[in-house]
Amino acid sequence: MFNVFSRYASYLIVLYLFIISFSARAQEQTETLMSDKMCYACHQLDSASIGPSWQAIAARHAKRKDQLVEVLAGKIIRGGGGNWGLVPMVPNQRVSEEQALLMMQWILDQAP
Ligand code: HEC
Repeated sequence: MFNVFSRYASYLIVLYLFIISFSARAQEQTETLMSDKMCYACHQLDSASIGPSWQAIAARHAKRKDQLVEVLAGKIIRGGGGNWGLVPMVPNQRVSEEQALLMMQWILDQAP
């Protein structure tokens, strides 16, 4: 009985480690993508520059993140202003919808 249990547990541990490393890798890829697409020219993790920080964006939209993720992903592509100050965001037209959604999910996970 114990053997069955411990074998089962070790499968679970392997599965767990696999999921952890997989999602860590996916996160790294999203961050690399965002540096490739020049997001860091105007945004940083924890301090405002030309645009608001990722943490500030995540904190601001935390309560409605499920409803807003697609709208905000659209704003990444089309650009726009009025939410944070006088400077609008330029359109980032070389970002696909799928990429914008990945980025937006990553950003919304950065709430401090
Ligand atoms: C040229 C500067 C610039 C670049 C490049 C840029 N942004 Fe922005 N971003 C801004 C500014 C300015 C704002 C604030 C706009 C506003 O007030 O609504 C902003 C706002 C945002 C927001 C918050 C939108 C909201 O309404 O809360 C997100 C999310 C975002 N940017 C993601 C990105 C991503 C992802 C990239 C890279 C593909 C990127 N930005 C590239 C300047 C930039």
